[in-house]
Amino acid sequence: MTARVIDGKSLAAALRAEVGRKVAATGFTPGLAVVLVGEDPASSVYVRTKDRAAREAGIDARTIRLPADTSQDALLATIAGLNDDPAIDGILVQLPLPRGIDQRVVIEAIDPAKDVDGFHPVNVGYLADGRPNLVPCTPLGVMKMLRHAGVTLSGARALVLGRSAIVGRPMGALLLAADATVTIAHSRTLDLAGECRRADILVAAVGRVEMVTADWIKPGATVIDVGINRLPDGRLAGDVAFEQAAAVAGAITPVPGGVGPMTVACLLENTLTAASRRRAG
Ligand code: GUN
Repeated sequence: MTARVIDGKSLAAALRAEVGRKVAATGFTPGLAVVLVGEDPASSVYVRTKDRAAREAGIDARTIRLPADTSQDALLATIAGLNDDPAIDGILVQLPLPRGIDQRVVIEAIDPAKDVDGFHPVNVGYLADGRPNLVPCTPLGVMKMLRHAGVTLSGARALVLGRSAIVGRPMGALLLAADATVTIAHSRTLDLAGECRRADILVAAVGRVEMVTADWIKPGATVIDVGINRLPDGRLAGDVAFEQAAAVAGAITPVPGGVGPMTVACLLENTLTAASRRRAG
């Protein structure tokens, strides 16, 4: 069997164009503030990509670059200013933050109505309650890919590998809201391979190069690879050994060109959602 490849790049391009059309039709310009503290190379690339994509969709994107030695209080003051700025509809603080800054305190300082990452406990709570409000961009993008690929979610056994706040936990909540039977596996899970092999839908989000091999995959399963790992030679690799996995899976996402572009497109959608809701009062 050779798996169907789910093309995140073209799906993301379509979603970005759709957001652009909707922005043009609204009669207002959504504002997005992206805050980057320090100069982590990967984060710098992500922030540039988000800023450019937002501008292309007609969103007024503002990247605020702060030095690595910025104090937590100074960062909180920046966020307070953005919360109060009527031109700003969405606030994203790129993670990870430098040591010495408490990520949770910073995220909790963001106005939940402007929390386009969906990381604020209020938005996490809505999602856990089965009433998604602003939802984290990566799992939101994965759900769009699954739906676009026509994957049956209701009643499916879904296995999420990884329990991070950015991907694993919200991914589990969204799959549950779509009536899948969800297992969240992690580093302490017994028989990881066996758990994975039972899954009709396998979402890998652990950040370990090609950890998921063909023998972990149920024949015909849908495999979503969230991993973006930089190899010593500069190439990107996912959490799934793509070539061998594609010989067993029914559908699979590539790295690059899979989930990554969808994350950016969903950020634009969340920004438009936040802007529309705020302006509707
Ligand atoms: N770092 C890695 N992924 C993300 C994300 O989706 N949002 C933010 N803010 N930081 C990240």
